[in-house]
Amino acid sequence: MQFTVAIDGPAAAGKGTLSRAVAEKFGFAHLDTGALYRAVGVKAEAEGLDPVAAARSLTPADLARADLRTLAAGQAASKVAVIPEVRQALLDYQRDFARRAGGAVLDGRDIGTVICPTAEVKLFVTASAEVRAHRRWLELGGDEAQVLAEVRARDERDMNRADAPLKPAEDAVQIDTSDMSIEAAVAAACDLIAKAMA
Ligand code: DC
Repeated sequence: MQFTVAIDGPAAAGKGTLSRAVAEKFGFAHLDTGALYRAVGVKAEAEGLDPVAAARSLTPADLARADLRTLAAGQAASKVAVIPEVRQALLDYQRDFARRAGGAVLDGRDIGTVICPTAEVKLFVTASAEVRAHRRWLELGGDEAQVLAEVRARDERDMNRADAPLKPAEDAVQIDTSDMSIEAAVAAACDLIAKAMA
């Protein structure tokens, strides 16, 4: 069985938690595509490489680095993600993953629009910038005002780039998690997926 769930949305909207829960519930494989861009950004900076070369030579060891979840890695990811050749280098891996037997959940910014336009279920997960910054701050600590500024800077860059900008696919279902528990968001997503599979 091939079944693809595309989950897109801005930084810290709850995509990761939602995707992992959905994948576990349906026994689907999960790919966090943001980790690919984070790994490219961190590798390019750490090894002084051109980001395109870093993307083309990405290895499982690069994806297993411990420092991919930091704010700095998120900013580095968002910067390399504007480069069309970087996106192109990561395309086939993502599409192959989406087509694997047994079902797949991919979360990112352009899954429903560019990577998997024919995905069976497309979700666009959002929350206000303040709520997202607060969640990131609870996770990472630091200065909350600075976390909010970084969330806004990343939104700005992700939404306004020319290639594959962050935006909902026309046929995506939007889930706003600002005033919703993660359990409620997971239940809503599972409901949609179960209906689409029936
Ligand atoms: O989801 P995340 O915060 O780990 O993503 C990090 C950055 O990677 C994000 O700011 C933009 C980029 N990204 C992208 O351009 N396309 C994706 N499918 C996933 C992430």
